[in-house]
Amino acid sequence: MKEKVLVTGGAGYIGSHTIIQLLMSNYEVVVIDNLSNSKEASLKRVEEITGKSVKFYKVDLLDSEKVDEIFTIEKIDSVIHFAGLKAVGESVEIPLKYYHNNLTSTLVLCEAMQKHNVKNLVFSSSATVYGDPAAVPITEDFPLSATNPYGRSKLVIEEILNDLYISDNSLNIAILRYFNPVGAHKSGMIGEDPNGIPNNLAPYIAQVAICKRDALKVFGNDYNTHDGTGVRDYIHVTDLADGHLRALEKLNEKPGYVVYNLGTGCGYSVLDVVKAFEKASGKTIPYQLVDRRAGDIATCYANASKAEKELGWKATRGIDEMCEDTWRWQKMNPNGFE
Ligand code: NAD
Ligand code: WQD
Repeated sequence: MKEKVLVTGGAGYIGSHTIIQLLMSNYEVVVIDNLSNSKEASLKRVEEITGKSVKFYKVDLLDSEKVDEIFTIEKIDSVIHFAGLKAVGESVEIPLKYYHNNLTSTLVLCEAMQKHNVKNLVFSSSATVYGDPAAVPITEDFPLSATNPYGRSKLVIEEILNDLYISDNSLNIAILRYFNPVGAHKSGMIGEDPNGIPNNLAPYIAQVAICKRDALKVFGNDYNTHDGTGVRDYIHVTDLADGHLRALEKLNEKPGYVVYNLGTGCGYSVLDVVKAFEKASGKTIPYQLVDRRAGDIATCYANASKAEKELGWKATRGIDEMCEDTWRWQKMNPNGFE
């Protein structure tokens, strides 16, 4: 029998890319998404790409009755929990919405899993839980802290899941701390489709390249980095998606509560990414140097050797491929999924 995986937030950016890899590896996929930050078209594209179908429930995870109903109808084996709000700046403005959505949806999900005896959970955490790290590369045992409500919601969810595991050792929970996901599926048919003005670097650059925005604002050039601009560990979304499949396989070995960094271990500055994108697109990316963005840190990159050792997972796609794939998606879909 095929393993059936419930993917919450599956219509979103990372979820849709992960579903492709799941379907290609013969998992059966059920999606719950309220489409608050995504479009159903992404799932239609996933079906086109794979030639396989996805069972989609347009349901809010806050709706415990509907979630319970889905667990009754579908016999779920494992859950990948992507659903959540993720805009850092917005989380500072409307913290209650972020805490309510991200925390309560996770509680509702875990209650349904408990009731229906589903033991395996993969959770989307973030490198943001390391706050401003004292050193790089970052290993999983670094101290954790939060600098904004979004990050705090991830940190609290990790703690809740750990408490849950302590109360029931038969659970298997993989916490995946993503570094900076970028890129798109090779087909150019799915990719990141931010609402309004992009907060993140790669989609902003892509919109400059396609002339939807005039120029990139580079937030700060006085950091202690090789060119003064912020350094991050950009990871191709397809590598990230593969990490989830390895984590699911790991859960079948009943490891208990486990935590992994998913990053490449390489750091690139904002200007490095601009250069790589110019090379990939053949376009010039105009930019202006402006003040630092509040809350940003200088440098952040992973030591991802734990995932390599224990999951047999390693990112294989470099910055050029990340930019080429982002550009293909942007060019083929200048208005995203619309
Ligand atoms: P996304 O916004 O594209 O996807 C999240 C999905 O969750 C969306 O489709 C949204 O409609 C859905 N959703 C939100 N609240 C919901 C609710 N209450 N009920 C049902 N569906 C709901 O974001 P993404 O980039 O794909 O991120 C996926 C996960 O990974 C998130 O939890 C995010 O915090 C985490 N993460 C993302 C990044 C990143 O930079 N993209 C980095 C680290 C961690
Ligand atoms: C990358 C670099 C910016 C935009 C965020 C979240 C983190 C995680 C990933 C979810 C930084 C610079 C950016 C722009 C710029 N998300 N930049 N001009 O801030 O590393 O991480 O997304 O978990 O929690 O905080 O990513 O893409 O916003 O920024 O100069 O218009 O690009 O200063 O150095 P960040 P980012």
